[in-house]
Amino acid sequence: KKKLILDVDTGIDDAIGIILAVKSRQFDILAITTVNGNVSLDTATLNTCKILDMLGEQDISVIKGANAPLIRPSFFEHKIHGEDGIGGALANVPVTKQPDEGFAADFIINSILNFPEEVTLIMTGPLTNLALAVKKCPQITQLVKEVIFMGGVVQGVGNVTPTSEYNTFVDPEAAKIVLHAGFRSITQVGLDVTRKVLLSEEHIQAIQNQELADYISESTSDYRKRYFERNGVWACAMHDPLAVGIALQKDLVTTKEYYVDIETKSEICDGQMVCDFQDRLMKPANAHVCLDVDAEAFFDLFIRTIHS
Ligand code: BDR
Ligand code: CA
Repeated sequence: KKKLILDVDTGIDDAIGIILAVKSRQFDILAITTVNGNVSLDTATLNTCKILDMLGEQDISVIKGANAPLIRPSFFEHKIHGEDGIGGALANVPVTKQPDEGFAADFIINSILNFPEEVTLIMTGPLTNLALAVKKCPQITQLVKEVIFMGGVVQGVGNVTPTSEYNTFVDPEAAKIVLHAGFRSITQVGLDVTRKVLLSEEHIQAIQNQELADYISESTSDYRKRYFERNGVWACAMHDPLAVGIALQKDLVTTKEYYVDIETKSEICDGQMVCDFQDRLMKPANAHVCLDVDAEAFFDLFIRTIHS
């Protein structure tokens, strides 16, 4: 089994990513680490614990990380993810799972040092925890197996500002540090592909595990409504679950290596990911950029995996 650390800011789609990772049984999940993002660190942690309770997986460690971006103020997304961060689902369920001791960045460092070239990191929130880990222990970049992160957009428009995707917008300094740290393998999973992976009512109905189908239906209900208002289709993008899906099945996406960077000093473009498609800067590639996705194959995998 692949050793995995999943780093999340548990909002609606992070939660579904956790479900996919756990249910796949393909990972040895060393811990789920949490970060400030869609919601506060404490709410992201609570939501993560709620999901693990629902899955009956109280033994998976949850470790808290950064409670703010590196240098910027928090930027929550309650309008999208709901007051509680998971669309009001599981609101009245008592929570028994508690977070474990420790700090995410240290846990990431120690895990990578303990299991050289074995640990996969899937990051589905702002990259604050990984940036802190790299700053403290730069050699992890050569010892981690791979990093898969959901963030950025290279060809389309942003989802927070005209140019920027949420995770890179919230902590652009962290994203910049991670991209330039010299990791052996970074896969960037951006809106270019995640926007094509749209969860519909039919997908939810195909999920045979009724408890999970009900949870996903309820937690994504307002999320899908908002997408309908903007795009005329009842659906929502599976941003974070796609990052998990790629760790399970690489050929879900078509990637190409490019040099990418993040804008941090602009009045209107902060958080923008810039991809040097034409090698204008003549710098070595630092990311496998996802250019296309087989959405149907993703949903096959997703529905098959969370059946049981
Ligand atoms: C990303 O931002 C968050 O709102 C989602 O959880 C996802 O990680 C999409 O831009
Ligand atoms: Ca997220």
